[in-house]
Amino acid sequence: MALEIEIVTLFPEMVAGPLAASIPGRIQEQGLATVRVHDLRAWGLGRHRSVDDAPYGGGAGMILRPEPVAGALAALRRPDSVVILLDPAGEPFRQARAEGLARATHLVFLCPRYEGVDERIRSLVDLEVSIGDYVLTGGELAALVVVDAVLRLLPGAIEAGSLEDESFAQGLLEYPQYTRPAVFDGRGVPDILVSGDHGAVRRWRLRASIRRTLQRRPDLLEARAWSGEEERFLADVRAELGAGLPGADAAPADAAPADAAPADARSD
Ligand code: 6GU
Repeated sequence: MALEIEIVTLFPEMVAGPLAASIPGRIQEQGLATVRVHDLRAWGLGRHRSVDDAPYGGGAGMILRPEPVAGALAALRRPDSVVILLDPAGEPFRQARAEGLARATHLVFLCPRYEGVDERIRSLVDLEVSIGDYVLTGGELAALVVVDAVLRLLPGAIEAGSLEDESFAQGLLEYPQYTRPAVFDGRGVPDILVSGDHGAVRRWRLRASIRRTLQRRPDLLEARAWSGEEERFLADVRAELGAGLPGADAAPADAAPADAAPADARSD
């Protein structure tokens, strides 16, 4: 059954374009999913189709009123719907949630603007999602992020093999990849990758994934189940890194401070 997605926004033009392009566009052309974009103002109040008002208690900015959202849901909600509010106070969006949403049949995304939403809107939705610890001007870009992550997981959307190995699928960051040329800027390619020994390549990649995750995202390591082989590689990598790097298992040893520039200058 094809996944149907509704996106409710005050800025339909902000979401329509990106979804028509590239892989999301192809997925829809293939009939794996349909995405419809709705203007929240259609459910606005009065002659001006108003959707927001000043906060009770005072303060800056405008708050999204509940009635337009209730109106949109009265029109769009079905028994099989999962209704998702994009909100910085929502659940941090992760791959496991994307996998769950990819098994749904109807997703309704509500994209607020303004300084916030009337608290009573939260009881109208099934899920509140945030895409990270920073503030966007509205939920549109966050909805696009979630929709993109879900669409590519639909059966037939992309090559199955590319889903299994990628970052987060196994709770680890992806291993380093190389393509031609064999030497770039004086830097070669690990010998094992050109050895033709598939077992050795698999072990090298697993070890490299564990090493990179330990260095950059040690928080991910606690949240996963480990095989015996993986446990051994983790112990190896810890020993290897622990030797010269203080606090290798407390913080990403190769990460820059959060307020510093380029993560891509990191070496590992
Ligand atoms: Cl879902 N909305 C807004 N406005 N900002 C965000 C966000 C959502 N997730 C991270 N930042």
